[in-house]
Amino acid sequence: MHHFSYRDGSLFAEDVDLRRIAAEVGTPVYVYSSATIERHYRLFAAAMAGTAEAGKAHVFYAMKANGNLGVLKTLAALGAGADTVSEGEVRKALAAGFPPEKIVFSGVGKSESELRYAVAAGIYQVNVETEGELDLLSKVAASLGRRQEAVFRVNPDIGAGGHAKITTGSSENKFGVSFEEVHRLYARAANLPGVRMMGLALHIGSQIRETEAFEAAYAKMAQLVVALRGEGHRVDRLDLGGGLGIPYDIPADFDHGPGLIEAYAAMVARVTAGLDVELGFEPGRLIVGNAGILMTQVLHLNPRPTKQFAVVDAAMNDLVRPAMYEAYHEIWPVREAAADARRIAYDVVGPICESSDTFTAGRELPELAPGDLIAFMTAGAYGASMSSTYNQRLLVAEVLVKGSEYAVTRPRQSYEELLGSDRSPPWLA
Ligand code: LLP
Repeated sequence: MHHFSYRDGSLFAEDVDLRRIAAEVGTPVYVYSSATIERHYRLFAAAMAGTAEAGKAHVFYAMKANGNLGVLKTLAALGAGADTVSEGEVRKALAAGFPPEKIVFSGVGKSESELRYAVAAGIYQVNVETEGELDLLSKVAASLGRRQEAVFRVNPDIGAGGHAKITTGSSENKFGVSFEEVHRLYARAANLPGVRMMGLALHIGSQIRETEAFEAAYAKMAQLVVALRGEGHRVDRLDLGGGLGIPYDIPADFDHGPGLIEAYAAMVARVTAGLDVELGFEPGRLIVGNAGILMTQVLHLNPRPTKQFAVVDAAMNDLVRPAMYEAYHEIWPVREAAADARRIAYDVVGPICESSDTFTAGRELPELAPGDLIAFMTAGAYGASMSSTYNQRLLVAEVLVKGSEYAVTRPRQSYEELLGSDRSPPWLA
């Protein structure tokens, strides 16, 4: 469920008319709903709290999905932790008010300076992905007079996900140490001065809409916890990653949330029963995915003998998911179409100079005219966070709505900012 709906013929975000945002902020623009973010976080956190013995379940929002400051502050205020994958994300999580003791640092290639920053900041946990990283972390932490709490990210050799490019848990993928190696690494870590191994982590992929693959991977991890304890190791934590998918192609009033979340929670409780571990979760898309839309304006129509192109002012640099993962996003006209409106099959495309800048091909939509506003739905996750300035296009504005209020939480980039970060080489100055 989300909080974008038609009122008196216009699409609203909570109590704000999107036409007002278009007029005042311009397009393209990302619009996020606080109510949807809050609802999904609360649903998820409440369901997971029931999975762990003694309520020891920690939710670390995977901020790579959406790192907008307003979104982050909303989640920090609700008590969420943050899952980060770079020094920039650690810094931004701290700036948004996530306490260091609720920050997890994962990622397959952390550099020495990134580890130094994170350890010095006093973060909760580093998810170690390679033997080299283990040594580096120990060295860095010891030099700071610290012993950093950490877990091994294990590759369970069970991958899943909505697209091959977002599958991470297969042994063919670059992520994590292998099941075989983790025994030796755990033993090695016991002799290192700068780390304290607390347990295990995994993440098998993204946009996963059924629980089977999670269950298979978690069951393997549960066995590993027992085996490692048998070898005398301390295994107090199990970080189960993110990856729960959301529907991109169903009506707004379809209340999907609790179904999959509850099935997932029941499965987690079953698979981890009796293990006596603290559980961690790293949801990204599930929290923010359908809390955001990208609103764009139709610039031109380009009728061809076999096709009708609608050229809009947003492009693949603003929302890359269709070009990169063949992702589907519903398209809703901001002005509600009459039930009997003529429908035309459009290729909706952006202005960028390559054919992959296509949001959809042959999609039936109510007839469009230049100037019309349309919204790409379910664009709150991996939308703005994956945007770029390709074609020297400005990063778009981002707006957070709360009730009848809205705030521009990221102004549209200016041409001064875009061009001002370049430097001329001295021999061409
Ligand atoms: N934890 C780790 C270690 C991850 O790598 C990821 C996502 C998450 C948590 C959060 O996963 P989520 O709950 O959002 O599925 N750009 C792609 C998705 C990439 C996901 C990368 N890792 C897309 O637009 O579909």
